[in-house]
Amino acid sequence: MAASTTNFVFDIWYFAGLSSDVKRGKMVRREIAGEPVTLGRDENGKVFALRDICPHRAAPLSSGCLKSGTVECPYHGWRFGIEDGACKEIPALCDGQDMETEKIKVRTFPVREDGALLWIFISSDKRFAGTPCIDPPRFAFADRKATLDDSLTLNCHVDHAVIGLMDPAHGPYVHRQWWWRSEHSMHEKAKDFAPVERGFSMVAHSPSSNSFAYKLLGGKPVTEINFRLPGIRTEEIKVGKKTVLSFTAVTPLDESRTQIRQIFFTDHGLFKALSPLIRIGARAFLRQDADMVDLQQMGLAHDPTLLLVEDSDTQAKWYFALKKAWAKSRKTGSAFVNPVKAKTLRWRS
Ligand code: FES
Ligand SMILES: [Fe+2]
Repeated sequence: MAASTTNFVFDIWYFAGLSSDVKRGKMVRREIAGEPVTLGRDENGKVFALRDICPHRAAPLSSGCLKSGTVECPYHGWRFGIEDGACKEIPALCDGQDMETEKIKVRTFPVREDGALLWIFISSDKRFAGTPCIDPPRFAFADRKATLDDSLTLNCHVDHAVIGLMDPAHGPYVHRQWWWRSEHSMHEKAKDFAPVERGFSMVAHSPSSNSFAYKLLGGKPVTEINFRLPGIRTEEIKVGKKTVLSFTAVTPLDESRTQIRQIFFTDHGLFKALSPLIRIGARAFLRQDADMVDLQQMGLAHDPTLLLVEDSDTQAKWYFALKKAWAKSRKTGSAFVNPVKAKTLRWRS
């Protein structure tokens, strides 16, 4: 069960950032599943994405500038259309040097903007933009301004980051803090799971009695946790009429680095008021996971076989099964069949 080094999910929408990350007339650099990407917004507000490598001599286009529908490379000023990636101009050419510049192309990526979220489609065929075979996931509550936004890079392959995030058994050991829970408060839990689109859901339930952080929200919170390929985890907590949406995107930068971006959207007044404190808490959590990943790398460097046991590791098994089923459906052109079956999982944490 060792995670392969390049085994990314392709032909799928990756989270590219918040709308507010990309200002009008500006570009930002991203790395997604091994691809360098320049993500930009033109003067009219339209978002686009191009491979962040100039076909001339490889300068990053994201360090260039936007000029009337083209990106100008910072090195020699070649200009590429933001829609088609075709080279529109090579300033160093003289009269009579009639090159067909349009034949030189930078790879483009389909992008979508939905509420506050930006999505980028990464196809398996590196030569083409790829025609999206699906729509990005929709999170209706994520059309508002983010209350909290943090990110951290883990030094591991995305598979370890994802299964580490969904692992229910590490909490009392890795996240041992007075305001969360301890080894001593461990007890048996049973949670109902069901398949959802390209993923699975821990169906709506009241959080465990030993989850102190939920108590802060007051009332009787009900939470539903969803995971979807390639690595999108959402937790929607409802307290009366109010909602807290915790959105986590786990994105492979390359084979050995993975970015975790954690964003909260809410209309819950107390959560908003406490957000500076919650930020510190969420940061501590991420930091603890990152430190454990660094320790784990010492063992993983020897490429051992891993043991995934019983219900506490079932979600990890589902993740690998989902990846496999998605890759198979893309390869064979057959319909994707979700391998997850509704089930109650039991573990102690
Ligand atoms: S490297 Fe981009 S124009 Fe030369
Ligand atoms: Fe964790």
